[in-house]
Amino acid sequence: MTWRATILTLFPEMFPGPLGVSLAGKALASGLWTLEARDIRDSATDKHRSVDDTPAGGGPGMVLRADILAAAIDAADISPDRPRLLMSPRGRPLTQSLVAELAAGPGPLIVCGRFEGVDQRVIEARNLEEVSVGDYVLSGGEIAAMALIDACVRLLPGVMGKQTSGVDESFSEGLLEYPQFTRPQEFEGRGIPEILISGDHAKVAAWRRAEAEALTRARRPDLWAARGGQKGTKKTTEG
Ligand SMILES: C[S@@+](CC[C@H](N)C(=O)[O-])C[C@H]1O[C@@H](n2cnc3c(N)ncnc32)[C@H](O)[C@@H]1O
Repeated sequence: MTWRATILTLFPEMFPGPLGVSLAGKALASGLWTLEARDIRDSATDKHRSVDDTPAGGGPGMVLRADILAAAIDAADISPDRPRLLMSPRGRPLTQSLVAELAAGPGPLIVCGRFEGVDQRVIEARNLEEVSVGDYVLSGGEIAAMALIDACVRLLPGVMGKQTSGVDESFSEGLLEYPQFTRPQEFEGRGIPEILISGDHAKVAAWRRAEAEALTRARRPDLWAARGGQKGTKKTTEG
């Protein structure tokens, strides 16, 4: 079954956007995944097609209405086995393990918030799982949704070539990736580590492993601690 992404947004014209080029774009064009961007405003009921209202209890900004968003979700009519996500800075962090989980499924429906956010009642009534792309606030969920979709699509069968299978990438074993080098052999007085041009595959693998562990320890003590802080410990996810 083809992996599907269904987006609910106030700005459907933002899609596919960057998802229409390069790896994801080629895969989209060749039918390895599908994308449907639906306009939440199509579910509005008044002549101004309004979708938001002022926050109960006062305060700045506007809030996406529960009834309009629920109608938009219902109109998308997705099968019950598809995850329903709401991009949200207070959500579950988007990690490579969550990406792998989503990529292995049928593909999500993703609600992109705007304004001050979404009425809590629709989150509960439509079982939306909140997912965050990081501890910062974007002006809308669209760019966050694109990040999530891009990360999933590259894991779909047939999207990445054999040479870039993702096995050695950052987070694949709860480690950051080792440093990469290519030609020229010397750049502004800096060479390539001798071991990488030695042709000794076992030594190259050991060097890469050691570099990945050292980088993870230094830059991401949280990841290092999560995998037990041990050399050689195999763990497939970081989160
Ligand atoms: C301006 S933000 C609302 C922020 C909200 N008032 C808060 O403080 O949590 C508007 C929308 O952008 C999206 N968004 C913003 N930051 C995000 C993040 N870090 N991860 C995922 N979605 C985000 C969400 O869909 C959110 O509803």
